[in-house]
Amino acid sequence: MSALLRPRTTLDLAKRPRRLRASAAMRDLVRERDVRIASLVQPLFVADTNQPRGPIASMPGIERYSIDGAVEECRKLAALGLRAVLLFGIPDFKDATASAAHDPSGIIARSVEAIKSAVPDLVVIADVCGCEYTDHGHCGILDERGDVDNDATLELLGRAALAYASAGVDVVAPSDMMDGRVGYVRATLDASGYTNVPIMSYAVKFASAFYGPFRDAADSAPQFGDRRSYQMDPPNAREALREALLDLDEGADFLIVKPALAYLDLVHAVSEVADVPVACYNVSGEYAMVKAAAANGWIDEDRIVDETLTSFVRAGADIIITYFAKSYAQRHGTLRR
Ligand code: PBG
Repeated sequence: MSALLRPRTTLDLAKRPRRLRASAAMRDLVRERDVRIASLVQPLFVADTNQPRGPIASMPGIERYSIDGAVEECRKLAALGLRAVLLFGIPDFKDATASAAHDPSGIIARSVEAIKSAVPDLVVIADVCGCEYTDHGHCGILDERGDVDNDATLELLGRAALAYASAGVDVVAPSDMMDGRVGYVRATLDASGYTNVPIMSYAVKFASAFYGPFRDAADSAPQFGDRRSYQMDPPNAREALREALLDLDEGADFLIVKPALAYLDLVHAVSEVADVPVACYNVSGEYAMVKAAAANGWIDEDRIVDETLTSFVRAGADIIITYFAKSYAQRHGTLRR
């Protein structure tokens, strides 16, 4: 019976895709996509004077740095061929209105100054949001009902962006999901002469369980409720395109889709419509899952990371924000810089 099912002659199989997989050299020759080290962004957590530093339990290999520690780390990242970092601050002082977020001598402003003077060639991106700086842990200013007040929060974001721009930041990245914030931040920066500071907008950001470890790292978990009245509902793809188009309209210079792995369809869809670079954010929970399984010996971390980062490029991401940026550059630096 099996003889009957087997192709009778080679004529039946003129097309044999395996021919192009036969050797490592052949596979290299026909490879369609590569992950560029220069397109990776390493997130960094910078802790203010009185905040704990050191390893983050749920994110093995990632640390909270002092400003000096962050500068040292940036020198190493630059030497590995990485071109950009994304800064998150852990302030000494939290209040209801996130005043430490726009303090001209706050943790982000000081970090930006220190990093830009030590490693001027590195692109320094600052996350702009209230959640690390509010005592209630929400991303903006609350109204009487305990919901985040959109328009009051815009002013906070504008001030924070301005404080980081005057400290010399290269890019501001609002991650709060307020309506109209790209336009508002653009107008605020322009009015102060920062017309050349681009906005990397977290345009498509979902209310996701994948942010769990980040909230430990940045001490930014909401003290009540959740973020579903401002971050997006995971099933909504059409709405993701609406958010992306609105931000482009308001002048966004880059768009971010976040998280990455569970939203690759949207990385692709956004990359098809955007006329600016599209980033995806391979978030803390995606990192922690790989680290945990690898620590148990259940997966091969290096191969999983390579395969995952490649999937982002294949989906259409131009830029990948990932906690694996440094280790990827360490492993592939000489090959793919
Ligand atoms: C909020 C912010 C968050 C992340 C980046 N910016 C957390 C949140 O929205 O709760 C998550 C990043 C990650 O999980 O790696 N400013």
